[in-house]
Amino acid sequence: MRTVLANAAPRPIDAETTAYRLFHGIAEGCPGLTIDRYGDRVLVQTFREPEVDLAVVEEWTGRPVVWRHRGPERVDTPVPRWAREPTAFTENGVAFRAPLVHRGMDPWLFLDFRAGRRWVRENAAGRRVLNAFAYTCGAGVVAAVHGAASVLNLDHGAWALEAGAGWAVDNGVEMECVREDFYAATRQWAGGSLGRRGRRYQKRDPRRFDLVVLDPPTLSRGPLGAVDIVRDYPSLAKPCIGCLDEGGVLLATNHSPRVSTDDWIHQVTRCAEKAGRPVRDVEIVLPDGDFPSFDGQPPLSIAAFTT
Ligand SMILES: C[S@@+](CC[C@H](N)C(=O)[O-])C[C@H]1O[C@@H](n2cnc3c(N)ncnc32)[C@H](O)[C@@H]1O
Repeated sequence: MRTVLANAAPRPIDAETTAYRLFHGIAEGCPGLTIDRYGDRVLVQTFREPEVDLAVVEEWTGRPVVWRHRGPERVDTPVPRWAREPTAFTENGVAFRAPLVHRGMDPWLFLDFRAGRRWVRENAAGRRVLNAFAYTCGAGVVAAVHGAASVLNLDHGAWALEAGAGWAVDNGVEMECVREDFYAATRQWAGGSLGRRGRRYQKRDPRRFDLVVLDPPTLSRGPLGAVDIVRDYPSLAKPCIGCLDEGGVLLATNHSPRVSTDDWIHQVTRCAEKAGRPVRDVEIVLPDGDFPSFDGQPPLSIAAFTT
């Protein structure tokens, strides 16, 4: 462990960001281990062998460390009390706080999407923003802090939206949170109807946005269709494009290693064309240096599609 860490040279991203990846795993020749700084604390995650020398990591980082194992076998790792309490950190100057250990496995703020949130910071001013698959509303909070005309976060998870609402209060901004199925809400906002299967969902009037953030999970199934970023990205992109106003922008992601950035961009562009909203410009947003790519394929594809 000591030798592996000796090869790593983590650098802070910028003076306004205290949450970043210290140890990537693949980059240092030790796949299956990641070490992330969140403010004054450190989160270690193992994805293969449930083995890590916490004392060495603590000495290397100079901060208290908590470990979670996310491999195929269940391993109950010790959780110090502080790890269940909120840890404060900042990203691009926006204040966040999150427990490093909570009921879910994913951290409250996904660090690889930082570059996407920076894009939002630079482009949200004056825009009506929809943050789809909002989770803890990270992109929504950044949009609100940086002058969005309005921000709507959409997710079917209650606790995650509540976490995001807390961050909005911490940053002194307002935003709306809608707890609903993605397809049920966005298809209606785009002016469509839900058909027979959609009778159980709340009726919604069409609604227009200038910027839609679409950062979906790999796979989830619901009565109105599957969320599937590998087999069916167009079903996700279509209603988002449908509720964009003239000249609106879709900031979308795909984190599947099974889909190349080029193919995915082609799928989204084609979908917009078919919907009668051709894409005028595509801007690829590369992840920050703490999420390096090794084969020319960024681990998280992010692109802004201007219609
Ligand atoms: C990978 S996270 C999204 C990350 C988020 N965009 C961010 O910036 O942190 C996945 C989220 O999608 C939500 N989700 C999954 N399927 C959904 C669906 N059909 N409708 C609404 N939300 C859904 C989950 O509740 C979860 O919060």
